[in-house]
Amino acid sequence: MKYLIAANWKMNKTVADTLEYLELFLPSVKDLFEIEIMIAPPFTALSSASIKLDTAKKEGEYNVKLGAQNMYYEEKGAFTGEISPLMLNELQVDYVILGHSERRHIFGEKDELINKKMFSAIEHGLRPILCVGETLEERELGKTLNVVEAQIRKALAGIEKDMQFLDIAYEPVWAIGTGKNATPGQAEEVHKFIRSLINEMSKGNDDKTRILYGGSVNENNAGDLIKQPNVNGFLVGSASLDPERFYKIITKVLEV
Ligand code: PGA
Repeated sequence: MKYLIAANWKMNKTVADTLEYLELFLPSVKDLFEIEIMIAPPFTALSSASIKLDTAKKEGEYNVKLGAQNMYYEEKGAFTGEISPLMLNELQVDYVILGHSERRHIFGEKDELINKKMFSAIEHGLRPILCVGETLEERELGKTLNVVEAQIRKALAGIEKDMQFLDIAYEPVWAIGTGKNATPGQAEEVHKFIRSLINEMSKGNDDKTRILYGGSVNENNAGDLIKQPNVNGFLVGSASLDPERFYKIITKVLEV
């Protein structure tokens, strides 16, 4: 299983910013195949990023994949403002982030909707990264593992047998964008729990499913976090916006 180091740019970067970033970033990860890298720009920049990656791949070898930050589950129709899996397929998108805590908490996405999106993504050959995680209040009440288990069971209801086609990101809500990351021990406790849960749910068919950690990952904490046996990569927000910082995180992973 290769580590997956994914950049979630959220609502940042125009098309021009995206192209400038890739121009700087891509040469640093040329011929780097020990790990997999994914970049998820906003929807408006996906097309340009896709063309840029395609051109780069004609001139050299890159293990850099493209991701979307969300999608709707229907293929087309009267869903103003939404993006369909077919639209992502057309742009050679490989991954789609689903159930991110900002989607859940700011936009009110519920587990049932996330479940439909998970089904649809897999059906359309997109590899979903399902995000789960507890709030600070839930952690303080000792409910972390219960919350994470419920989110995973509901989001994966009916697709337990397809575990090899998806990845999971554990992102404690209190650690996202706060500069307050989970300690390696806190992350490992939850990752270990998730691993045994998905192993049980999939009847052992989880050897291709990576469990990423997300929440204030940066170049200083990445080294210790990635050393945890059940941390299989990262979903990086703010520190991925700068190509040099994102590359530094990648170098920490390569040192393991
Ligand atoms: P952060 O975001 O690295 O800025 O905390 C992570 C995420 O939300 O995926």
